[in-house]
This record gives sequence, structure tokens and C-alpha cells, in this order.
Amino acid sequence: MDIRGTFPILERMVYGKELVYLDNAATSQKPASVLELEDRMYREFNANIHRAVHLLSGESTDLYEAGREAVRAFINAPSRENVIFTSGTTNSINLLATCFTERYIRKGDKVIVSQAEHHSNIVPWQIALGKVGASLEVIPVDDRGELRMDIFYRMLDQHVKLVSVAHVSNVLGIVNPVEEIVAAAHSRNIPVALDGAQGIVHSKVDVQAIDCEFYSFSGHKIYTPTGIGILYGKKEYLDEMPPYMGGGDMIDKVTFEKTTYAPLPLKYEAGTQNYVAAACFAPALAYASDARVDERIVPYMMEKLQQIEGLHLYGVPENLERKVPVFSFTVDGTHPSDIAQILDKLGFALRSGHVCAEPLMHRLGVPGILRASFAPYNTFEDCEKFIKALGRVLDMLK
Ligand SMILES: Cc1ncc(COP(=O)(O)O)c(C=O)c1O
Repeated sequence: MDIRGTFPILERMVYGKELVYLDNAATSQKPASVLELEDRMYREFNANIHRAVHLLSGESTDLYEAGREAVRAFINAPSRENVIFTSGTTNSINLLATCFTERYIRKGDKVIVSQAEHHSNIVPWQIALGKVGASLEVIPVDDRGELRMDIFYRMLDQHVKLVSVAHVSNVLGIVNPVEEIVAAAHSRNIPVALDGAQGIVHSKVDVQAIDCEFYSFSGHKIYTPTGIGILYGKKEYLDEMPPYMGGGDMIDKVTFEKTTYAPLPLKYEAGTQNYVAAACFAPALAYASDARVDERIVPYMMEKLQQIEGLHLYGVPENLERKVPVFSFTVDGTHPSDIAQILDKLGFALRSGHVCAEPLMHRLGVPGILRASFAPYNTFEDCEKFIKALGRVLDMLK
């Protein structure tokens, strides 16, 4: 495949150097097929969805629903009713935290999260649980970055009403044992929500095989434009929970005395949705279905990074098959943002800082990390160039 031709942005130069984009865990670049549909949506089909009888509205609605069907098929959800459009993972988890807490959580109850969560899977729960006098319980991670499953098993008691953990940590790049977590929780009748913001990109997600009750992710990390995301939920929960927001499209009948709600999935889709970005799930997931990160990248990066003197790599699972191409590290005597800034001048785009995971930074004993994250459009040569450039930068700084 002509990778640079498929992703127009990769043609550009930064500071006169070829761009090597290694910030994919923050957001992905967009293939031409997605950019073309986004453009055509506005040039040819633009009209608000689900509202009018005119042709354009019908076409726009069909493309929106085709985006939903593409998501349904990609995650193997049983029906379109299970696939709720949101504005992203953060919005999905806020919806869930608000509605699940209102319906199922009372004073003294608990929700289990892990020490390796993104702030999006911590703060919405703190806000919602705080209102009813419930609290968070935290599964620690060990020195490799793996969840302490022995402690998790002991945490499952009658006060736990939900387990909500990342499928894949955005720092550690480790695929958590979600099947085992679901089986353990279900043996106590506890439902499980997965933050799939990273998991959807790097692992095959079959929500029926995993058997989780909820799965959230963002479109922009998996090649759609920004401003669209998904909350997958099992129907019995989506039926029982109250709506999140009120407004247009989510109603059945409205009177001043009483309002009834639209059936799923529209019950949770109040107001004008980002139908353009939603439609783009179809080409984005078509690309994602065929695209794989070069399989030489994980072992090469793990080996080369760990050979660098004074470098601490976070997220080293016993079984390398559970490592995705997200590499976070610090180097003794240097600051992550200094390294990131010099690498930027050499054409490499990386993320540095706490990457929205402050509690995990405390566990690792660092204020921040440097993160290189790869996508299928990164070549193995990108990876070799990066290791060389990092070596040069460290020589300069030490
Ligand atoms: C694991 C994880 N959860 C949640 C989020 C939040 O995603 P968004 O900002 O698209 O809502 C991210 C984004 O980096 C993430 O990596």
C-alpha cells in the first residue's frame, strides 16, 4: 500500500524534515477515504438527520446509520440498538457514570477502577459517585504495569456495583486480561464497563465474546474526524438507565405534563449529532479492518529502548503478545519535555507529560513520561530512525 499517499498529512515536512508521527495514542491521522467522505458530506448530502422528508435529509440519515452499522459490525454488537453515538470516550463514560449511578448505585456502594486509568475513567465516576455517597476502589498495578489480579479477586464483594477498567492503558500499552475480569465480576453478578479508547485501535474487539456490559471508544483515535465516539451497552442496561440529556430526537411524545422517550439508540442521542463524523466510521473502520502495525515494531522497540543506559520503560508485560505499540519511558538526568522538544525539531511528533494519567504517574514515581505510539502507517524505518534520533538527543542532553 502507498502509505504516504493514503494519509495526505504524512506528505508534509516539519522544520524541513519528513514528519514521523508517533503520537497516535493521542489521535490518529486520517486516510484519504475518510477525508473524501467528510468533504462529500458537506458538498453533496448536508442536511440534519432524522428530521425532514426531503432527499438530502434522507441521504444524510442513511450515511449516519451506515456509520452506526459499520461500528456494530466492527465490534460485533448484536444490534444497532446497542450502539450509541456520543462525542467521544470521555462523553461515553460521563454518560455511563451519570446514568448508571442514578439507576443502580446507592450510598456505601463501590465502583472498581484500576491504578492505570485515564482521567476520563476516574473523574466522571468521582463526580457521579460523590453525589450519592458511593466511592471508588482501585486495583493496583505491579512493577511491570500488570493489574494485581490477586487483589482484584479479593475486592469483589457485595458493595461493588460495577467494574470499570481500561481495555488497554494509554501509558503502559498493556492489554488487560478483560475476559478474566469479566468472568470474575460476572461470577458475583457485577457488570463490567471497558474504556476501549486504546483497545479498539490495537485489539480485535468482539463485545459479545468479551461479554462486557459496556464498551466506550472515540472515533478520532481510529481514523474518523474528531467529535464522535461510541458507547456500546447491553440492551437491558440501556433500557433501564434514564436518559442522559433531554432534547430533540431523543423523545417519543412531549407534553408539558409528561414526556416519553424514543427507543434505543436514539434515547441517548439528544440534539443534532455529529452526523458527518459518524458517517466517516464506515471508511475509517474499512481501513482499520485491513491495517496492522508492522509486527517487527514491538519487539524491536522493546529491545532497543531497554538497551539504552538510564532509560526506564513502563509497561513490560511478561507475555509480549499483550503489548501494543505504545512505549512510555523516562531517562535518568533528563526531562521528558526537553527530549520531546528536540525530537520535534528533528521531525518526530511525540507526547510528553502526565498523559492524563496522574495517579499512574504517582505509582511510577515520575511527574511525567515520554510516549511514542505507533499506527499502521508508521513504517519499520520510522522506528529505526526514531531509535537513532533518540540516541543522538540523549547524547546531547547527558
Ligand atoms: C484510555 C483512554 N481513555 C479515555 C481517553 C479519552 O478520549 P477522548 O479524549 O477522545 O474522549 C483516552 C484518550 O487519550 C484514552 O487513551
